[in-house]
Amino acid sequence: ERAAALRDVASLIRAVPDFPSPGILFRDITPVLRDPAAMAAALRLHLDAVADLAGSIDRIVGVESRGFLFGMPIAHALGVGFVPARKPGKLPAATVTQAYALEYGEGTLHMHADAIDAGDRVLLVDDLLATGGTAGAAARLVQRLGGEVVAGLFLIELPFLKGRERLAPLRVEALLPF
Ligand code: PRP
Ligand code: ADE
Repeated sequence: ERAAALRDVASLIRAVPDFPSPGILFRDITPVLRDPAAMAAALRLHLDAVADLAGSIDRIVGVESRGFLFGMPIAHALGVGFVPARKPGKLPAATVTQAYALEYGEGTLHMHADAIDAGDRVLLVDDLLATGGTAGAAARLVQRLGGEVVAGLFLIELPFLKGRERLAPLRVEALLPF
């Protein structure tokens, strides 16, 4: 059942101290991805968390790069399109851009200016919610293009960094708090 699936997935998330910088405990999802049963369970858990949104979402936005991993299969399962939010220098056509800070640095996200239609209802997907800086920037890009972010969906949440509060009043679905 759901609790067992969550336990199985959680048991494969590896904690790596001092990566990418001293004092950061990095939550590594690659052991989940390489295990087909865990990967399938994780995908199912994501879909169950937003089951009520099926049919009312127009687009998934996934954040480079780990937000692509579950973002694409979720989009496919929901029967909607996928839009990548990318780091600088990657998207070839005209973009909108937003700077942000995250737990261990800062960056800029780009989205193609024609990727979101006005009125699009968007589900934002990333592997991990820490400070919420990254997700907040992606949400801002969607809003600047006239879209509405309906919810943010994350495999992992680090509640001590209060990303959920930062994203409020956005609906946040996170499967595993650490
Ligand atoms: C990680 C993670 C989220 C973000 C969360 O991405 O995948 O996107 O940090 O942190 P925040 O809530 O404090 O903003 P990272 O920038 O390391 O890039 P990657 O996905 O390419 O590894
Ligand atoms: N992104 C931001 N903080 C992180 C962490 N502690 N582990 C993995 N990804 C992250």
